[in-house]
Amino acid sequence: TDKTTSAKIEAHDLAARFYHHLLISTEQGKEAYEYIRQRGLDDDIISRFQIGFSPGQSDMLSSLLEKRGFDLGDMEEAGLIGRQESTWDVYDRFRNRVMFPIRDLRGYTVGFGGRVLGTGDPKYLNSPETSIFNKGEILYGMDIAKKSIRKQNTAVLFEGYMDVIAAYRAGVDNGVASLGTSLTKRQAQILRRNAERIIICFDGDNAGQESTEKSAEILEQEGLHVLIAMLPDNNDPDDYIRENGGERFRKEIIDTAVPIMSFKMQALKRNKNLQVEGEKLEYIEEVLKEITTLGRAVERDFYLRQLADEFSLSFEALKQEQYRLYKESR
Ligand code: UTP
Ligand code: MN
Ligand code: MN
Ligand code: MN
Ligand code: MN
Repeated sequence: TDKTTSAKIEAHDLAARFYHHLLISTEQGKEAYEYIRQRGLDDDIISRFQIGFSPGQSDMLSSLLEKRGFDLGDMEEAGLIGRQESTWDVYDRFRNRVMFPIRDLRGYTVGFGGRVLGTGDPKYLNSPETSIFNKGEILYGMDIAKKSIRKQNTAVLFEGYMDVIAAYRAGVDNGVASLGTSLTKRQAQILRRNAERIIICFDGDNAGQESTEKSAEILEQEGLHVLIAMLPDNNDPDDYIRENGGERFRKEIIDTAVPIMSFKMQALKRNKNLQVEGEKLEYIEEVLKEITTLGRAVERDFYLRQLADEFSLSFEALKQEQYRLYKESR
């Protein structure tokens, strides 16, 4: 099996170089190349992330792999090719897609994410889970970001491939992404081994907000200090950078990241009109409920005091009410 493992890794390396070549130096890759350029990526970034293109023809990669002597059964197991059920014919898994090689910590390509040109379903097709590609253990961009993550003692966690790449271009070179699934404990442990602080910068939509809370919890459980960088509604980091530039992204989004509690408070505020007395009281109650979930007394005190100041309430009354809610919740 060691031999098939290295064959699978070699095949991914070959595929990544092949797709990259097709993108940057062939007529077939021209449309994809223009698409990527139009999304703001330059040649340096394209080669740094080894972005590629898989053409529409269904035997581009499979015939190359066959010619180079790779066992097609292994290649099927590696998720690079598929087989027609009736005829047993092989075909390339990725067709007509912009290709993002996914590398493990050592820098070996072990999978791909492939994006349709323009619109289509699925928007991203990823490699399946294989013996060399365990999605829960890999973070996209980690091989490139690792050095900077260690140096800054901080990692930035994004949702998507394009966010990692756009941020890198904007000077945020400590960014990684989980692979379309929610963050796992294993991924959190990998981050923890390289940094103490993490900034979550997910998409500014409901899905992004929900996974922010989930991921934050997992990261905190591994002992990381978590900050949340918030984006305007319906912007993702890549959109934001394209619309506002890299400097504003760094200064107004990354550098202004806030602790989870502030993030939750802002979210609770969004659905309320605090000029209305009843809604104000609701808001205070909801914040107090969140405060009961904080593990450290210092943190609870900090936010109780903040709430007391903001609404001109006595600290003692808030603390009493918070304690009542805490007992009620047990
Ligand atoms: P998004 O839908 O936010 O993608 O999914 P995006 O990165 O902003 O895509 P662009 O900007 O339109 O190109 C975030 C991530 O979720 C995974 C991918 O890893 C993607 O980068 N995803 C998304 C999938 O795996 N499959 C999908 O169909 C969509
Ligand atoms: Mn999204
Ligand atoms: Mn997005
Ligand atoms: Mn999008
Ligand atoms: Mn996007």
